[in-house]
Amino acid sequence: MRPFICAALALAVVGFAADARAADALDGTLATCWSCHGVEGASNDHTLPILWGQKAKYIEKQIRDFREGDREDQIMSSMASSIKKDDISRAASLIAAKAWPKTQAVAAAAPDSIEACKGCHGSDLTGGESPEGPAPRLAGQFAEYLTAQMEAFAHGDRRNQKTMQAMMKSLKPDERAGLAAYLAGL
Ligand code: HEC
Ligand code: HEC
Repeated sequence: MRPFICAALALAVVGFAADARAADALDGTLATCWSCHGVEGASNDHTLPILWGQKAKYIEKQIRDFREGDREDQIMSSMASSIKKDDISRAASLIAAKAWPKTQAVAAAAPDSIEACKGCHGSDLTGGESPEGPAPRLAGQFAEYLTAQMEAFAHGDRRNQKTMQAMMKSLKPDERAGLAAYLAGL
């Protein structure tokens, strides 16, 4: 082989090995995520959100918000910081590419106020792009987690989305709980 081709080949091999190492490191980091969020996409603890199949852009924003303190949670700020900055977007895509798991939640009646959610969270409530930023999938998420987040928006404990804060403040606690029960059962 000519020296030039040899060198090019060697560089390609080195590049490939570096990519493989980065992928392994990220796989290892993601394995720690499943220890809480569920090895098959859903945790037995329903205060922990389902991540598998969530919208990639939404996951990415939350990881950045936790790192920067725009969304506060002691555990998640340190977990989010365990992902290298250059890996955040790839991590979010890998999580989003997994299948959303089925839960045991039972169907509940649709509250009238659900119609107002569809403009941003999608007509089937599986999330989407909204004028206010990436809106997460709500359909099939745990009711306990959803209720806690709606309460957090309403009381100003979660402050990373102004419109959601105002919307949740305008509802009564039993209306928020009704929305959560309906969404979980979808
Ligand atoms: C020790 C348990 C634990 C581990 C490990 C963990 N998380 Fe979390 N995660 C949580 C908790 C608790 C919440 C809910 C925080 C809240 O109430 O705001 C959460 C929330 C999230 C959310 C927000 C989801 C949503 O619907 O808004 C994302 C995204 C997330 N975690 C990603 C990750 C990633 C990525 C990893 C691995 C690097 C990880 N988590 C590891 C406990 C954990
Ligand atoms: C104007 C657009 C808009 C409307 C309308 C809207 N949302 Fe949202 N919602 C968002 C966005 C954007 C986010 C992501 C916030 C962030 O970046 O953290 C969000 C986040 C949420 C979350 C947090 C989910 C999680 O995984 O942590 C819940 C719960 C939620 N919305 C429920 C609702 C419900 C219920 C309604 C209807 C009563 C509603 N939203 C209407 C835009 C909207």
